Amino acid sequence: MTWKLKHAGPQRGRTAIVTGANVGLGLETARGLASVGCAVVLACRNQAKAAAARDQLLAKLPQATIECIPLDLCSLASVRDFVAEFNARHHRLDLLINNAGIMMHPYTLTEDGFESQLAANYLGHFALTGLLLPQLLETSGSRVLNVSSLAHRWSPIRLDDLHFATGYDARLAYGQSKLACLMFAYELDRRLRANDHDTLSVAAHPGVSVTNLFGHFKLLNTLFRRPAELILQSAADGARPLLYGALADDVEGGDYCGPQHFQQWRGPPVKVGSNRRSRDERVAAELWALSEQATGVSFLS
Ligand SMILES: NC(=O)c1ccc[n+]([C@@H]2O[C@H](COP(=O)([O-])OP(=O)(O)OC[C@H]3O[C@@H](n4cnc5c(N)ncnc54)[C@H](OP(=O)(O)O)[C@@H]3O)[C@@H](O)[C@H]2O)c1
Repeated sequence: MTWKLKHAGPQRGRTAIVTGANVGLGLETARGLASVGCAVVLACRNQAKAAAARDQLLAKLPQATIECIPLDLCSLASVRDFVAEFNARHHRLDLLINNAGIMMHPYTLTEDGFESQLAANYLGHFALTGLLLPQLLETSGSRVLNVSSLAHRWSPIRLDDLHFATGYDARLAYGQSKLACLMFAYELDRRLRANDHDTLSVAAHPGVSVTNLFGHFKLLNTLFRRPAELILQSAADGARPLLYGALADDVEGGDYCGPQHFQQWRGPPVKVGSNRRSRDERVAAELWALSEQATGVSFLS
């Protein structure tokens, strides 16, 4: 049976955070969560875009509870401000969807000295999750979902040079960041289980979905956007594995969800496998320690 949103149990009274929710997969995930009754916090770096997304969602779902809190994952100060604001407004957190991301970015360092793809895609989410963990642990049935990619196969984790002090390659840096997201999801699952917490940690990927992520492929984003959506996936279809991972009853901690067909490029959401590197527990533990050191956020260690 293909899982659909209508199979999600009752969600009213539950609260979700979606990072990068103003566009693309994040917006479609927020739409799906709001449509089944979750209150959704749009965690976005640009407040005009966030407000426009909130208005767009409310136009179709006038009963929904949608709010915006600023979050720039490339700034640890912004991550801390976000968590302070969220904690001041909310007393439960059911779903944390770590979705925001950038791809193939030119080499830049963030204000914290992190390579920008690693910061936006992984380290910002690592810190965010650690700082929100107390709220997640207090909320029965909570889940953290990290968004990875087929690109997790493109690179190893460069434990001796995470930030590409030498030999920057935008494709490798993206691959490393998405492998880090996946290894984080698996390692978080192991640590939650070891501590007998009932919060689930899962991962998902959207196959290949036509979104702004491919902003550097100008023709794909303009002339060929509609045809590309027919061959690849629309953002709405790409969000289905994320919604499945966040809401489905048969999903367990440590599961990885993605599209079923064409080498996981498109299709209905199912549980999928990942490469051997992503399962390396020694590297995952070292990455965790380096991430704690870099962000100053320690948890479950
Ligand atoms: N599309 C695909 O085929 C595909 C495949 C595999 C994995 N993914 C993953 O799916 C996730 C969503 O991507 P998408 O395809 O929906 O791309 P998108 O349309 O470009 O959306 C990315 C979102 O992330 C936000 N973002 C970027 N940097 C941020 C930061 N520093 N702080 C806060 N938010 C930030 C963007 O905000 P702005 O609008 O302000 O830029 C935007 O809301 C990413 O993690 C990506 O790696 C996508």
